[in-house]
Parts: sequence; structure tokens; C-alpha cells
Amino acid sequence: MGVIVCVGGQWGDEGKGKVVDLLAESARVVLRSQGGNNAGHTVVVDGRTFKFNLVPSGILHPETVCVIGNGVVLDPKVLLAEIAALEEAGADLRNLVISERAHMIMPYHPVLDRLEEAARGDDRLGTTYRGVGPAYSDKVRRIGFRVGDLQKLSFLEKKLNFVLPLKNDILVKLYEAPPFTKEEILAEYTEYASRLDRFIKDPYPLVQLAVAQGHRVILEGAQGTMLDLDLGTYPYVTSSYPSSGGALAGAGIGPRHVTATVGVFKAYTTRVGYGPFPTELEDELGEYLRERGAEYGTTTGRARRVGWFDGPVASYAVGVNGIDSIALTKLDVLDEMEVVRICTGYLSKGEAHDHPMANISHLKHLEPVYEELPGWGCSTREARSFADLPELAQRYVARIEEVAGACVDLISVVAVSLKKKWRRQAW
Ligand code: IMO
Ligand code: MG
Repeated sequence: MGVIVCVGGQWGDEGKGKVVDLLAESARVVLRSQGGNNAGHTVVVDGRTFKFNLVPSGILHPETVCVIGNGVVLDPKVLLAEIAALEEAGADLRNLVISERAHMIMPYHPVLDRLEEAARGDDRLGTTYRGVGPAYSDKVRRIGFRVGDLQKLSFLEKKLNFVLPLKNDILVKLYEAPPFTKEEILAEYTEYASRLDRFIKDPYPLVQLAVAQGHRVILEGAQGTMLDLDLGTYPYVTSSYPSSGGALAGAGIGPRHVTATVGVFKAYTTRVGYGPFPTELEDELGEYLRERGAEYGTTTGRARRVGWFDGPVASYAVGVNGIDSIALTKLDVLDEMEVVRICTGYLSKGEAHDHPMANISHLKHLEPVYEELPGWGCSTREARSFADLPELAQRYVARIEEVAGACVDLISVVAVSLKKKWRRQAW
């Protein structure tokens, strides 16, 4: 048992929700450790579709406590809508706990997100406009509002007296946008306070107890390693730490308790938003994979950029997160390919590189080195075990293991997840 950290190994949208949902079956706690409602995933259970932005998908298991952890920034309005939709779809939210330490997205954050992006012009990042970057910036500046502030509205008001003029100055003087009034924000957040009160708690005792008693605790990451503020393709990243180190900080759990770090990877690569993407396919093949893989964002509906599996990114993600187990998703999207390619390295000005370099202008202009493997040319959608996969698909998976440097323990096709083997029986 113990703590399982589940992280995205690429640029997000790897299928983490599905993997967490599977792992959550026997979990006491599922904790969302970072990010905000820039994340999105869909889980289908018994024909019913559930959409998640902030609530951990473990909520569909009635015995599992689901925590929105201290590393998250949440928009109360979005969270309340999500809670209402989940309750309507038949989910029981009694076991949802929101950390008092999580930060809140304030009404000016999404507005500033949009204005800052517009001001960047051609250098814009392609954010989700959810206000995530501005909210994390305020957290770091120590002018953020925390969920616990909802339980002490006089404190929230006092803080607004200081913070709101700073924000309005930027809105009005820099962007010529309308200001916010303290009264409207107070009225709005007072209402959120009463509606969220039943969920707000300090998760510290229950998380520590679950860890001490050896129960399974899952840390559900959002986004992916290449969107990590430090480790990703800065500045084309999100504003949190989706890597395993960030997961622990965002949960308040020490590394000693981690028994496995699962990296979720798509069998190819996608990215939403701008920034370097060495294996991108900007041709008909990319178009084909986007349609076959339904690569359109859950949160924003944007078309995702699509490319081949990037080995240097995978081995980097394995290294920086300490991934010891890979979950490979959407393998069946490649079923009809005549050949499949895996990027095994990069060439930059004749020089070979085996991992993504920090300098993004280098990363933008390098040449991926590909290895070509024969496609398997038949459907894997009906496969229910590793042995059911055609030999050439098994060979593709084996090559990914070699290139990434970690074992593929779980493979999923669109409809189901296949257990190839669980290396650790305790899972
Ligand atoms: P899940 O959890 C994919 C991307 C945005 C943009 C960059 C910064 O579903 O994997 P932000 O709004 O965070 O400031 O945008 O990060 N991004 C994601 N891409 N999946 C996600 O989440 C993402 N969350 C943010 O597209 O490029
Ligand atoms: Mg997503």
C-alpha cells in the first residue's frame, strides 16, 4: 500500500484521470496536489460521463476521501458548478475535503490572465485563461486569498483593502479595463463561503493517519512534467509544479512514504497551447491522429497539437520524477499506422542531445532523430491482457520501455485499461 504519486510525463492530457480512477479502487485517500481548473478530464463509468476540473476522480468510489490539497488554486465559482454537476450525475460528495491552505482564484485573476496574454502578442503562451498564473503569482507574492479566508470574512475584507487597489491600478492604468469593487467581491465570496463551508477542513490529520496506517493514498497530479514551472519548457509552462516533488509539497506528505511513482504517458504526444514540441506532426498524419484520438481539450475545446512519442522527454520525465512505473494510454489510436516512429534523440547544429535542454530557442530548432517500427495494422481495442496485443504492438511497448528507462505496467486502449502486470503486488 502506501503513497502512490501519479504524474503526467508529457504536456498534460495523458489520461491521468483514467489511471487515477483505476488506482482509486482500493484507495483510502485521493488527493489533488496542484494546478487549478486549467486541468480537465472525463471519466465514463457504467455509461455515465463525469467531468472533472478540480474534484479528484476518486469521488466516484464511495469509501474514498477526496482532498483538494494545499498546492491547488481553485475558483470557487467553477468548483461549485462542478459539485452541482457531479451531484446531479449521481456522485456522492460527502467525502470531499478542501484544504484551508489551498488558494483561491479571485475575479480579477482570469481578467488579468486574458489581458496579459493579449499584451504578449505573438509571444503569448496559450494559457487556459482560467486565472491560474495570476493566482499563483499572488500566492508567491504573499497577497493571495486562501480557502480558509472564507471562514473569516472580516480577515478577507481587511486583506482586500490592501490587495484590491494594487489590482485595480493595473487593470485601470495599464490596461484601461474596468476596476472591481470591494463590495461586489465581498458579496460574491460571502455566498461561496456559505456554500463551500461543509467541505473546508484541515486535511492534515486524516492524511497523516491514512499514511501512518499504511492505507493507499494517491496523489493525483494535473498537467504534466513538461509544463512544470521549473522543469518544463519555460516560459511555455503552467504556474505550478506538476512533477512528483511538487505533488509532495502540494499534499504535505514526505518522500519516505512514497511506494510508487506512476508516470502516465500517451502512446504518442500531444500539447495544447504554444511552445516547443520537437516531435510535432503538422501534416495530414497529425490531423489523422488528432481525429482518431479525439484530441480536443476537455477544458477549453481547443484542438491539441499532435506528434510522435518523444523518447528524450520520456526519459527526462522518468529521471526528474523518479518514475518507476509507466501507464501507457491510447495505444489503439496508432492501430492503423503502417509505421510508427519513436524519437530517440535530438540533433541541434550537428550536436546530439538525449534530453530536452533548458534553452527553448534551441529546443524549437532541433531535429528529432527517429526510429521506425512496423505498425501492427489491426485493432487493439478488444485486447484485455498484454498477451492479447499483436506482437508488433508489444514490440512498440517494449521499445518505449527501453527508451524511457522504466517499465510499462499498465496499458490502456480507449474503452478499457489492461493490466499487463503489476510489478508491485501490494498495489
Ligand atoms: P490536464 O490536467 C494540457 C497548458 C495550457 C498552456 C499552459 C499554461 O488536463 O493534463 P495555464 O492556464 O495553466 O496558465 O496555461 O499550460 N495547460 C494544460 N495543457 N493539459 C492540462 O491539464 C493543462 N493545464 C494547463 O494549454 O499551454
Ligand atoms: Mg486536460
